[in-house]
Amino acid sequence: MKIADFKLEVFFNQYEFSAPHLLAQSDCESMTVRELLALEEGAAEKFQECWLGYTEVEGGLALRREIAGLYESLGPEDILVHVGAQEAIFADMNVVLEPGDHVICQFPTYQSLYEVARAIGCSLSRWELRQGEGGWQADVDELAGLIRPETRLIIVNSPNNPTGYELNAEERQVIVEIARKAGIAVFSDEVYKGLAYTGERLPWFADLYENAVSLGVMSKAYGLAGLRVGWVATRNRELYEKMARFKHYLTICGSAPSEFLATLALRHGPSLLARNLEIIQANLEESDRFFAQHAPLFQYNRPLAGPIAFHRVNAPVEDFCSDLRKAKGVLLLPGSVYDYPGNYFRMGYGRRDFRTCLGLLQEYLAERGLG
Ligand SMILES: Cc1ncc(COP(=O)(O)O)c(C=O)c1O
Repeated sequence: MKIADFKLEVFFNQYEFSAPHLLAQSDCESMTVRELLALEEGAAEKFQECWLGYTEVEGGLALRREIAGLYESLGPEDILVHVGAQEAIFADMNVVLEPGDHVICQFPTYQSLYEVARAIGCSLSRWELRQGEGGWQADVDELAGLIRPETRLIIVNSPNNPTGYELNAEERQVIVEIARKAGIAVFSDEVYKGLAYTGERLPWFADLYENAVSLGVMSKAYGLAGLRVGWVATRNRELYEKMARFKHYLTICGSAPSEFLATLALRHGPSLLARNLEIIQANLEESDRFFAQHAPLFQYNRPLAGPIAFHRVNAPVEDFCSDLRKAKGVLLLPGSVYDYPGNYFRMGYGRRDFRTCLGLLQEYLAERGLG
C-alpha cells in the first residue's frame, strides 16, 4: 500500500519535543507511573509481579471488562484492544473496505480516518463541519445527500479533532437511521469521549447501532498516551473476528505492563476524567477572557466538548504559527496540516501550563502591535 504523509504527525514529529511550550496538544495532562500506581493500595507491588510474556490478541479479560463497563449494551467479548487508536483505524479500514468503495468522512478531522481509505482505493466525500456565527455546525441533511449506491462506510469523529464539535443525541440518532436504512456501516472515532462540559453522557455509536464500531483510547481524555492502549467496540461479530485476524499481521497483541496500567486507570476512570475536565474548564475560562480581549484578530470557536478547539486568525496562519514558535517557543498547529483553508489553527486545553502559554501568546501579540 502506498499512503500519503500524515501531515499532522510529520508536524508534531518536527516540533513536539523541541518547542518548549505546547499550546496545540490534543491529549490531557499526563502523569507518572508512580502517580498512577498510587491510586490503589497494593498496585505498585502487583505491577512488579506483572508477567512479561505475550498477552491475548483480543486484550486481557480484566482490561476488556473495564472497557466494556463504559458501554450500555456491550460485554468484554465485544471489545478488541489495540496498540493506540491509530492501529485500530488502520485495521478497521483494511478489513471493511475494498478498492472502488465510497466512504463519507466528517471533515475536518484526523487524517488517518480518510487517508487509509484513500490508500485502499476508495473514493471519498467530505461531510463538512461549517463555521457558524458562534462556532462549528453540522448538517445531517447534507450527510444524507452524500450517500451513493457504492457507499460502504460513514466515518464520524465526535468530539471532533480539531473543532471540538460534539454530535448531539438527536444528530447521532439521525446518522444511525440514515446508515441503517442504506445498509452502511459506521466507524465512529470517539477517542475524546469522557470530557463533556455539561455532564451529559452521550451514547457511544456501538451502543446505538449494531453495524457500528466505536473507537476509544487511553491517550486523550485519560491523558495516558504513553500506554498506547486503544480499542474498538462493536456488536458486529464478523467484523470483530476479521479485525482480530488482521491484528495478527500488525502488533499481534498489546504490552503486558501497559494493559496492567490501563486496567488500573480505568478502575479509577471517573476520578481521572474529573481531574482532566477540571483542567480544561479552568483553561476555557482563561481562553474566554483572552479571546474577548482580542476579538477583532480571531474568530473564537469555543469547543463543545473535549480538549481542543479550532479558531481562526485574521492573518496568514502558517506565518503566524511559525513566527510565534520562533519568538516565544509556543506551538500552535496550523489548519493546513488538516488540508483546511481559511487561516485556522488548533489550540489544546488539556494541559496545566495553558495559562503560561496564553501569557506568552499575549506578549507576542503586544510586541507585534496586534493586541
Ligand atoms: C481523532 C483521533 N483519532 C485517533 C488518534 C490516534 O490516537 P493514538 O495516538 O492514541 O493512537 C488521534 C490522535 O491524535 C486522534 O486525534
